[in-house]
Amino acid sequence: MNTPVQPDGTLSPTLGPEQPEQPEQPMVRFAGVTKRYGELTVLDGLDLDVQEGEKVAIIGPSGSGKSTLLRALMTLEEIDEGVIEVDGEPLTHMPDASGRLVRANTRHLRRVRGNVGMVFQSFNLFPHMSVRQNVMEAPVQVLGLAKSEARERAEELLAMVGLEDKLEHFPAQLSGGQQQRVAIARALAMRPKVMLFDEVTSALDPELCGEVLNVIRRLGEAHNLTMLMVTHQMGFAREFADRVCFFHQGRIHEQGTPDELFNQPREDRTREFLSAVNEAS
Ligand SMILES: Nc1ncnc2c1ncn2[C@@H]1O[C@H](COP(=O)(O)OP(=O)(O)OP(=O)(O)O)[C@@H](O)[C@H]1O
Ligand SMILES: [Mg+2]
Repeated sequence: MNTPVQPDGTLSPTLGPEQPEQPEQPMVRFAGVTKRYGELTVLDGLDLDVQEGEKVAIIGPSGSGKSTLLRALMTLEEIDEGVIEVDGEPLTHMPDASGRLVRANTRHLRRVRGNVGMVFQSFNLFPHMSVRQNVMEAPVQVLGLAKSEARERAEELLAMVGLEDKLEHFPAQLSGGQQQRVAIARALAMRPKVMLFDEVTSALDPELCGEVLNVIRRLGEAHNLTMLMVTHQMGFAREFADRVCFFHQGRIHEQGTPDELFNQPREDRTREFLSAVNEAS
């Protein structure tokens, strides 16, 4: 699709074509998103709309751009072309006084990005803080929440992920699965509308994966959170996702319901990937 970038580097106010089959405004929109590292094109004119509350699993070979997609949505990577919107607002652009879209300033970026939370493969907890402090930190420092309120929120979320008895522990005193659940509670403490999970169980022993996936499953059921999950666990993707996107060479090569994608893949490349994954597991 054509990107709406104008020759002077600004964006035209119309962000991509109308999509009559999906009249709702998507919670997340990638339109013509391209990301390059030197000669290497990692995202190649990617289009993806995710509706509010939708659970999307992203699968695909190593190096196909899955993490880059999530990192771009977290503004951890700058994109070269196209537009990313969150809840109807362009992430990296904002309207100027005359209504034209120009590069976003830091304030705009922070505000729009505040709708998005991410959990990584490595848990990235603050090692010198207790579990409770880890979850309280950003709401106090970034949102300016009163400590008492942040504490209440932290304890509620830690109970939800089954760690109410670990509030005073430090990360090093927890198992990997427990640390990952703290990381999930910490991301949720910012009350995001969109949650991103990037292979959150890959660093865990198989017996610890289940507890983390259970938390994610419960989250999906209890909240109208929009979720994008990169995963190598086809079983979980099948059960959790409303839609599965197969990534290949920086594009969505094929997508569909779990049944369509796993049971009746149309593309050769998807079939090859799925049979390689099945053999490996
Ligand atoms: N900072 C960087 N500089 C240069 N190349 C990069 C950088 N980050 C990622 N890449 C390259 O971009 C491509 C896509 O990376 P990405 O991490 O998005 O893949 P992925 O689909 O998440 O793979 P995996 O399943 O192994 O996690 C890879 O070829 C990778 O080497
Ligand atoms: Mg990755």
